[in-house]
Amino acid sequence: MSDPDALSADEHSRRSVLKAGAAVATAGGMAPLTFASPTATGAEGALSSPASTAEVTLRVNGVKRHVTVESRVTLLDALRERLGVTGPKKGCDRGECGACTVLVEGQRVKSCMTLAVMEDGREITTVEGLAHGDKLHPVQAAFIKRDAFQCGFCTSGQIMSAVACIKEGHAGSDAEIREWMSGNLCRCGCYPNIVEAVRDAAKGNNQ
Ligand code: FES
Ligand code: FES
Repeated sequence: MSDPDALSADEHSRRSVLKAGAAVATAGGMAPLTFASPTATGAEGALSSPASTAEVTLRVNGVKRHVTVESRVTLLDALRERLGVTGPKKGCDRGECGACTVLVEGQRVKSCMTLAVMEDGREITTVEGLAHGDKLHPVQAAFIKRDAFQCGFCTSGQIMSAVACIKEGHAGSDAEIREWMSGNLCRCGCYPNIVEAVRDAAKGNNQ
């Protein structure tokens, strides 16, 4: 018959630590910690219940797309993972790099920082929606002409941001372009060429 006090090394150390912790807490005037069972708190039910989902309709580049998403899903993930629209890139996923920039009703938005359910019914424009057939958008043409990219990871976000920057009237000078494009980072350091491309496109000088 096994001795109840003959604990394995692992069990022994675990019990010792818990007992020692309780003793320290009591000696220090603190009440020992107690742990309520998940059932008692209702947490078990919360953990096992399915996440809430919602039907969302996004008008992506002029086409109505329906998607069922959990309410926590970002617009970026809904576009990339659910709808196969991969122009917007996931760089930092926390609003710092701008690689995920899209237009929502014409306004530039970092799509990792908004939820798909918040954009229900809205018009989303990604880089895939800029060209008309074979005819590139002037900003796309300017980026090519000015060689304003290297690896290309940031480029779709840069282009979407540039389209909005020009439309907002924030491309009047190189300094202004730099300031209003500062939310879009380029790890390849193509900033001088990007500024030139935005300046060209703003002046209609991109051919
Ligand atoms: Fe959205 Fe970086 S991925 S800002
Ligand atoms: Fe490589 Fe911008 S072109 S990160």
